[in-house]
Amino acid sequence: MTTPVGHHASRPEAAVALTLLLGWVLAQVAGAAGAADIVVAYNLTWKSTNFKTILEWEPKPINHIYSVQISPRLGDWKNKCFHTTATECDVTDEIVKNVNQTYTARVLSYPAGYGHTSSSDVEPPFTNSPELTPYLDTNLGQPTIQSFEQVGTKLNVTVQDARTLVRMNGAFLSLRDVFGEDLTYTLYYWKASSTGKKTAKTNTNEFLIDVDEGENYCFTVQAVISSRRTNQKSPESPAECSSQGRGIFRELFFIIGTVVSMVILLIIVVLVSCLYKCRKARVRRTGKESTPLNVP
Ligand SMILES: *[C@@H]1O[C@H](CO)[C@@H](O)[C@H](O)[C@H]1NC(C)=O
Ligand SMILES: *[C@@H]1O[C@H](CO)[C@@H](O)[C@H](O)[C@H]1NC(C)=O
Ligand SMILES: *[C@@H]1O[C@H](CO)[C@@H](O)[C@H](O)[C@H]1NC(C)=O
Repeated sequence: MTTPVGHHASRPEAAVALTLLLGWVLAQVAGAAGAADIVVAYNLTWKSTNFKTILEWEPKPINHIYSVQISPRLGDWKNKCFHTTATECDVTDEIVKNVNQTYTARVLSYPAGYGHTSSSDVEPPFTNSPELTPYLDTNLGQPTIQSFEQVGTKLNVTVQDARTLVRMNGAFLSLRDVFGEDLTYTLYYWKASSTGKKTAKTNTNEFLIDVDEGENYCFTVQAVISSRRTNQKSPESPAECSSQGRGIFRELFFIIGTVVSMVILLIIVVLVSCLYKCRKARVRRTGKESTPLNVP
């Protein structure tokens, strides 16, 4: 009597199992279809200047979100910019750990509702970035002229040593600290009154060049790493011009000179006229004094 009952009961169980199986298959199909709808990132580009490094890509997400992973060669993937709707990711923190390493990043796409409930063993679609070796690939930023001084026939120009986000023992390193002798600067200079440019080079941050005395000069500087195959040069700094001040001093000298000579002239005039009047007065006085004696 127990057997028929058991036998009867097994049918609904099988049906339930079949339904579950069907549901699972449908879910997988739907999931696969969903994944196929997800747009993968494209046009992955590095924007890196003085080691500040941002990965950019397209397109703007509509129904999905992105995560970025970055890894040095033979290293582990590290998550950055987790589940973001942005199309850029700052990875500076990672690449400054070793600027001579070669890094690859990848942008993974997830459906918009992606959360903790989704199975994590389904690999999301992703796109790899081009490789980046910061020491070779980071662009050199536009330099700044920190100070300059023209004395006699010497022009001294000092380039500011830009700070980078590369750290050593907790302190930020300058561009010079990171690149050492590999980094040189080129000075382009010309007389303010002409356009013919000359160049000078230095492997420090200072230029000391010979110039014509009394002439004003304009100049720009450019950072260069000639050992690189690409990206050798930075943009040129904004131009600065020396003003020898000669013109201004001469004008001032003339004004002061004129004023001084006018004052002297005035004093002389006053003195002379005073002397003349005084003498006249004395003459008159002596005349008056003598009059009573002479007249009667
Ligand atoms: C994306 O890259 C392709 C070639 O890889 C290029 O033709 C296209 O113009 C790029 N799109 C944009 C918006 O830059
Ligand atoms: C990176 O490489 C350059 C040249 O290959 C070297 O001069 C420099 O010291 C290296 N920097 C670091 C931080 O290892
Ligand atoms: C050039 O100017 C810098 C900054 O004012 C100064 O430190 C340096 O000693 C000067 N160099 C020469 C050779 O005058």
